[in-house]
Amino acid sequence: MLAQALRSGTGLGQQLLPQVGALSALARAVTSSAATGPAAAEAAPASKPVVEKEFLVYRWNPDSAEPPKYDSYKVDINACGPMMLDVLLKIKDEQDGTLSLRRSCREGICGSCAMNIDGTNGLACLTKVDRDASKVSRVAPLPHMFVVKDLVVDMANFYAQYKHIQPYLQTTKPKPDGKEFLQSKEERAKLDGLYECILCACCSTSCPSYWWNSDKYLGPAVLLAAYRWIIDSRDDFTEQRIKQVNDQYKLYRCHTIMNCATVCPKGLNPGKAIAKVKQIVETGKVV
Ligand code: SF4
Ligand code: F3S
Ligand code: FES
Repeated sequence: MLAQALRSGTGLGQQLLPQVGALSALARAVTSSAATGPAAAEAAPASKPVVEKEFLVYRWNPDSAEPPKYDSYKVDINACGPMMLDVLLKIKDEQDGTLSLRRSCREGICGSCAMNIDGTNGLACLTKVDRDASKVSRVAPLPHMFVVKDLVVDMANFYAQYKHIQPYLQTTKPKPDGKEFLQSKEERAKLDGLYECILCACCSTSCPSYWWNSDKYLGPAVLLAAYRWIIDSRDDFTEQRIKQVNDQYKLYRCHTIMNCATVCPKGLNPGKAIAKVKQIVETGKVV
């Protein structure tokens, strides 16, 4: 047919049109018989039943005279993603656009979605919703922090404390090859379990010592960072760093309660890092 059309020089499309039409009709017939045949029930994805669960979400608006309260929202947990952030975004999208919360990466990297979920601090994007619909879930801002609005807290003091420990490399000598300071594999390995901190503040805001003295006690997140720089083989300000944190309030308000290690979404152990800083302060040896 194709050769004949080419030889005759007539319009290829014109000659093929009836055949194309017949093929389309055949395809339509096959599709419609498949859609109504016995295989249809198997092929169609079974729709999930509606599972409504109640979520109590802390609400406070500084522009309103109303005191803080928990608002109740019912969400079909079969119609959204499995994490608490999915539920909160569904509430914001479909029920109440005024709900305020922080989030960015939705994969445990930026640290911005930290909040208190069912009584425990964690990242909303990494915390799975309890599938038991008979239990009400409660979402609140990070404890003992000033609230800006709803689930958004004021991180200014936390960041000021982080800035206070000068969380960057400080050296007095020039770079050996003019490009970068090198570390051995062993020196670099000492930073494992420390450098991964995403500054979410879940640990500091779960620490009772930090709750009562957050104006003077640096808290687990910042002390973990301080330890990270104290033991960095490339840094020349180790002594100054140790002196800077050696203080009854800044460091010694840690009473080894260990809530910090329990809640850290990155699996870090700030309590252990603080114990190491105390050991360094007391022995004068960097371990
Ligand atoms: Fe968050 Fe863990 Fe860093 Fe604390 S140590 S700020 S909980 S990542
Ligand atoms: Fe607080 Fe952790 Fe120390 S919870 S008291 S910082 S071990
Ligand atoms: Fe970035 Fe949750 S959205 S850590």
